[in-house]
Amino acid sequence: MRPSSVIRPHLWWLVPAAFWVAAPAAGGNPFEVGAGDVREGYERPDYHTRSAALSATPGHRLDLAARAQAPPLGLPALPTSARPLRREAVDLGRRLFFDRRLSVNGTLSCGMCHVPEQGLTQNELRTPVGLEGRTVRRNASALYNTAYRPRLFHDGREDSLEAQIWSPLLANNEMGNPDRSAVLERVARLDDYAERFAAAYDAGLTAATLGRALASYQRGLLSAESPFDRWYYGDDPAALDAPTQHGFEIFREAGCGSCHPVGEQHAHFTDDGFHNTGIGHRAAGAPAQPERIQIAPGVFTDLRVAVSVPRMTCLLYTSPSPRD
Ligand code: HEC
Ligand code: HEC
Repeated sequence: MRPSSVIRPHLWWLVPAAFWVAAPAAGGNPFEVGAGDVREGYERPDYHTRSAALSATPGHRLDLAARAQAPPLGLPALPTSARPLRREAVDLGRRLFFDRRLSVNGTLSCGMCHVPEQGLTQNELRTPVGLEGRTVRRNASALYNTAYRPRLFHDGREDSLEAQIWSPLLANNEMGNPDRSAVLERVARLDDYAERFAAAYDAGLTAATLGRALASYQRGLLSAESPFDRWYYGDDPAALDAPTQHGFEIFREAGCGSCHPVGEQHAHFTDDGFHNTGIGHRAAGAPAQPERIQIAPGVFTDLRVAVSVPRMTCLLYTSPSPRD
């Protein structure tokens, strides 16, 4: 078991999305991105929300499969196991990702916790709201460039996008389905999913192909070609202003790159490792022997309280009371 403070260093915000990925479909309702996500009625006066309004979905729909063939500046080729991405699989995965009917009561889609307009996470909330308002215990991961991640989730407990889907689909504070067969039966009954699966996979709709479709869409969610990428890898001196360039100098001098590496050809800004940065020590309770933690090369801090192991083996999915 890893201490709760041991987490992967993600700097996804440093590679801001130059392109929105869940952009409006051509024709029809411009805000409809998936079969179960008809975004209608939000403009009605009797609809109230405390959420910051999104006035428009910026961007345009991208051919994610073609883009993944030649990833944008700053990213390497996709891992061979992820290639090639087939367009029909990506499109099927996109429909599923935004389909609320995949949750037990038809209210929650993957895309509602991983909101494209908010960087494929929920940036209004520290931790997203799950089924029937239940609390999810961790911040929703930003799903950019997950194609390259050897391990998934903050604690790395999954290593396959195909298998990972069952965590949110079955968790009682997320999409709340009782079991896999219930999910498959529901998807089989919806619209033309069975036909689409048959067209995309020889095996048709199965637990495995459901995972493959969602994984294919997510592998297409690539973010790079940021001003940093254009400046650093594209030799465009004007892409980054002087203060930002100076910031990068400091970043290098301070040794941030030892955990957030910037390579010769591309940058993930994460080493995919797990590091004890001391986060969580305040909640951990009883003072112990001061523990010396290296927060940057040569930079140490003495913690006055213990960095404990998590109180539960799985903070997110084994909540005894969903509302606590
Ligand atoms: C010892 C390894 C290590 C070093 C060195 C390090 N970081 Fe981190 N950094 C991490 C880890 C681990 C996380 C993830 C923390 C979390 O998820 O709560 C992180 C997260 C971050 C985040 C938040 C990213 C996000 O997506 O939310 C920023 C910003 C950041 N680091 C900046 C820096 C800067 C700037 C430096 C240099 C001054 C630096 N880091 C040095 C390990 C490190
Ligand atoms: C109720 C909110 C919620 C829903 C719905 C949801 N997720 Fe997540 N997702 C999260 C949270 C929270 C995490 C981080 C959990 C952790 O690290 O323990 C996460 C993490 C992930 C990760 C790991 C990414 C990484 O880089 O480590 C993937 C992949 C993912 N979700 C895909 C999906 C898919 C696919 C669906 C739909 C089948 C989905 N999620 C539905 C909240 C949600």
